[in-house]
This record gives sequence, structure tokens and C-alpha cells, in this order.
Amino acid sequence: MAAMGAIVTMVNQKGGVGKTSVTLGLASSAMEAGRRVLVVDLDPQGSSTWVLADPALDGAGNAPAVDRLLAGGGASAAARAVRPSAWGDGVDLVPARPDLARWEHATGRDATRLRTALLALIDGYDAILVDCPPSLGHLTRAGLAAADLAVIVVEPSALGLRGINAVADTIDGVWEEENPDLDLAGVIVNKVPGVSVEAERRLDELVSVVGRRAIWKPMIPQRVIASQAIAERRPIHSYGWRAADLIETYDALWTTLRRRCRQVAH
Ligand SMILES: Nc1ncnc2c1ncn2[C@@H]1O[C@H](COP(=O)(O)OP(=O)(O)O)[C@@H](O)[C@H]1O
Ligand SMILES: [Mg+2]
Repeated sequence: MAAMGAIVTMVNQKGGVGKTSVTLGLASSAMEAGRRVLVVDLDPQGSSTWVLADPALDGAGNAPAVDRLLAGGGASAAARAVRPSAWGDGVDLVPARPDLARWEHATGRDATRLRTALLALIDGYDAILVDCPPSLGHLTRAGLAAADLAVIVVEPSALGLRGINAVADTIDGVWEEENPDLDLAGVIVNKVPGVSVEAERRLDELVSVVGRRAIWKPMIPQRVIASQAIAERRPIHSYGWRAADLIETYDALWTTLRRRCRQVAH
């Protein structure tokens, strides 16, 4: 039976733009909608792992982690690296460990192994969401080589948009060399301030680089509660009306993503 899910990788070599927040926001929406997602943490800093790991399970310290998947251990090794998250039934996690940093400069290693491992896990998930580190090294390449869909996460500031061409080039490179199935799903714009001439100017610049159609709507507003949710390790949906516009935004983005995922047939 063909699974309905797809592998989606969030990228940008710039840190702090919201790759992790967007990954977790979409996971929160998916869970709320009664869907199931697997979050794969490819960042040695382990932010997604820190938010999602269930401390009651194993302290996550030496449990199998994402490096097992990068090393290509086969389907049963992949399955052993998956654990339930602290959020509940709809979200599972493949955690990162700090020693994942060793993989960042693993040039010459086979970047396609992660895809093989994740394809063995896709059944039963509506999406696998891969959270990348802020770099364009081996880990991000492996994340892209594993993906059906790449999502670039940006912030409408001068620094937030710097290097977006390099991200696009990396996606092209992986598509050419490792993964002909890779598609750029689009660009998610995060941390959009209420009123800002500067942000408007940056959005125009973004349109000129990636084109208007690549930019997903709605864009995600800048909200204190978005940071609070990460700090408190909670899904945004647990904040109810206090996070109403964020929740509405993420629900709409999840609907778009799910539609795109369903177009990918495995
Ligand atoms: N919509 C938002 N509004 C305000 N702050 C945000 C928003 N999204 C993310 N942040 C904050 O920005 C910081 C970086 O986000 P993060 O998701 O860790 O970025 P990345 O994974 O790209 O490094 C975090 O402190 C996070 O809480
Ligand atoms: Mg991150």
C-alpha cells in the first residue's frame, strides 16, 4: 500500500530564523488535526530534541539517535531510533545527540543513507519533518538528500535573507547529484513584524529572489508566545486564545504542507 506521507526538510544555513520553531509549530498543528508526524533532529544543538524528548523514557542520553540513520543501519536500526515524544501520540522523535557534530564535516560519506532509513519509517506518518542545523554541510545535505520536499525558512531582515541564494544552490546541487525526487516546496516566512518598512523592503527583495509563488501564505507573525512555547517545551496549541493567530497561521501552513505531501507517492 502506498503511504500518504512525505519527507519534508526545513533548511537555511542562517541560525535563529525559525527552522526549529516552524518544525514544531507544524507538528503541533498536525497533532491537533489528529495526524501523525515524525520529527527528525539533524541539528547537533538538539533544540527539537530538547523540546520534544520525554525525560521519563530514558533521559535520551545514550538512546539510539539520528546518527544511526546517517550511518545506514537498515530498517530495524532506524525503527529503534524512533521514540514517542513528550507531546503525545501524534508526534514521534528521532533525537540528536551532541556528538552528531562529527558528521558535519563527513565529506565523502554517503548522504543518501538517511533517505533509505526514513523511507523505511514513512508508513504510519503523514509527514516526516527534518529539522536541519544552521549550515550547509554534510548534515543539511543529508537532510536534503532524504527529502521529497524542501522548505526554506526565512526571516524578513537583512541578515535573515543573507545567503538564501546559497541555500537554493545547495538544493539544486543535491537534486542534481543525490536526489532527483527533491522538490522545493516553498519558502516559509517567519517572524514578520506588525509594521515595519524594513521588513516590507526585505519581503520585496525575497520576492525578487525566489518569486512570489514560492512564498507560502500566510506568513508567520512575530510573537512573544512563539518563544515562550519553545522555552516551556509546549505545543503552541496548548496556549489556546493567547496564541490564536499563531495557531491559525500554522494550521493553514499545515493544510498546505499536507496537500503537498499527499501528492508524493511512495
Ligand atoms: N514567530 C516568532 N515570533 C517570535 N520569536 C520567534 C518566532 N519564531 C521563532 N522565534 C524565536 O527565534 C529564535 C530562533 O528560533 P529557532 O526556531 O530556534 O530558529 P532556528 O532553528 O532556525 O535556529 C527562538 O528564540 C525562537 O523562540
Ligand atoms: Mg534550530
